[in-house]
Amino acid sequence: MGMYNDKVVEHFMHPHNVGEIDGASGVGVYGSPVCGDMMQMSIKVNDEGVITDAKFKTYGCGSAIASSSIATDMIIGKTCEEALKITNEDVIKELGGLPSVKIHCSILSEQSIKAAIYDYAQKNGLEFEGLKDFDPNADEDEAESCEVPEA
Ligand code: FES
Repeated sequence: MGMYNDKVVEHFMHPHNVGEIDGASGVGVYGSPVCGDMMQMSIKVNDEGVITDAKFKTYGCGSAIASSSIATDMIIGKTCEEALKITNEDVIKELGGLPSVKIHCSILSEQSIKAAIYDYAQKNGLEFEGLKDFDPNADEDEAESCEVPEA
């Protein structure tokens, strides 16, 4: 695994927070328009708006697994607004870097966190500043734009 640093390999081999939360406060799914891989993120949010647990499931590659492993570690203990500020670049930095062809894999973790918080916000009638520009159907829009127009 020469392209990957030790931290990436460690999170890939022993990912944290894998699975699905029973009675989650929010669940989000994001599909990568680049590779078609999927990420599901579930979060538990307490009454103070703090994320107390996060778990992911994926059909993504090793870089997606490493990204989401570290991203779930990063959001646990943060408020939703704080978690919404985390970008895929923050995730890559925390991992100590990803090969450039694997950057899009880290976007899966960022977007699925946003999707899970969006679901939580929808269910509770909440609005978050960090979701202002979030489009829950962004991945589907992308898929549609790839359709071949009818002749
Ligand atoms: Fe699809 Fe990495 S190649 S998530």
